[in-house]
Amino acid sequence: MARAELIEMARDNIGHAQAGTITQEPEVFKVPASNYFDPDRFRLEIDRVFKRIPLMLAATAELPQPGDYKAMDVVGLPVLISRGGDGVARAFINSCSHRGAPIVKLGTGKAKRFICGYHAWSFDYKGNLVAVAAKDDFGDIDMAQYGLVPLPITERAGLIWVILDPDSPVEMDAFLSGYDEMLGAFGLENWHLFEARTLKGPNWKIAYDGYLDLYHLPVLHRETFGEQMSNRALYYAWGPHQRVTSPSRQMIGLLEKPEDEWSADVLSAGVWTIFPHISIASFRGGGRAIMLSQLFPGETPGESFTTQMYLMEKEPTDEQRLEALQQFKLLEYVVQEEDYATGLRQQKALESGARKFVLFGRNEGGGHRFHRWVDRILETSDQDLNTLFRSGDPRLS
Ligand code: FES
Ligand SMILES: [Fe+2]
Repeated sequence: MARAELIEMARDNIGHAQAGTITQEPEVFKVPASNYFDPDRFRLEIDRVFKRIPLMLAATAELPQPGDYKAMDVVGLPVLISRGGDGVARAFINSCSHRGAPIVKLGTGKAKRFICGYHAWSFDYKGNLVAVAAKDDFGDIDMAQYGLVPLPITERAGLIWVILDPDSPVEMDAFLSGYDEMLGAFGLENWHLFEARTLKGPNWKIAYDGYLDLYHLPVLHRETFGEQMSNRALYYAWGPHQRVTSPSRQMIGLLEKPEDEWSADVLSAGVWTIFPHISIASFRGGGRAIMLSQLFPGETPGESFTTQMYLMEKEPTDEQRLEALQQFKLLEYVVQEEDYATGLRQQKALESGARKFVLFGRNEGGGHRFHRWVDRILETSDQDLNTLFRSGDPRLS
């Protein structure tokens, strides 16, 4: 049960906080600088990481009701995620079986049927082609053969994962490695989407490194989060997914109460990342909230796009709405002007050939594990991916 595991991690955290320790990797880890800008490597990452494994593409809160949908471009592929009249979330390639035009424009909306804007072919929520305009003029086709192409999808813990390859053999359970149960502790199924925006950043891995990195907090974010933030981290892994927390006084504070009264807020503190491109961080602006950050590689190795979604546990009151807005604004500034501004300069410096390697310290285990997982997935055949995820070996080397 997730709570038991959360308590176990809290006890581990408390132990480290009391002893003034963290877990350290055996050695400092080197990553080739070219991994962040080499175009061949970038192509491989798109094809072998982003197109083969499940990606968390939407929150349930974005399409809570039957008929709600979200259309998005994911590494160049047009994707449509919709919740049918039966309440089930489905995903399709957003391309019409007549001449391939996207059926639904980018963004979210509501529709009982999807009608292509080009020649008005229409599809039901299961993706079946149900009407061909001027059918007699068009000529006979077997409509059953021309539905939308479905993509593998699963909805768990208030989050929706989709695989971009319709024929991918990857099993959701193998990939998720039990992490979905942990994420279930948030109860996101019933949360509300407050606001969302998209920011431009550097190479997706430079951006993602930052989400796994607490080492930089009191330095890069001294003006916004303050110099008192801890720069020490504890990492916990489930397959390729990682949670990071600081050993903290807040965790020690749990000991003041019996274990069954330990608050879910404190127990789930820190950053929860979902491999390869999601970060979930808790905030209190306007009540219990999370910032869900979704990173996507851009068209070139040196660019990425991050959608920041502010999800709130409860519908905010007017006063809470203001607080939430302030928090959301602050996080835009922190990520755009501090993290990504630095990341874009870092990108430029690396592209200049200034260095052969970048370093991840013994205190930055999250980065070790993330880069090893990317490397390992790149070299693994389709058939062996499930075995790789099931091996769950966090060290991987
Ligand atoms: S391309 Fe969709 S109806 Fe023609
Ligand atoms: Fe940061």
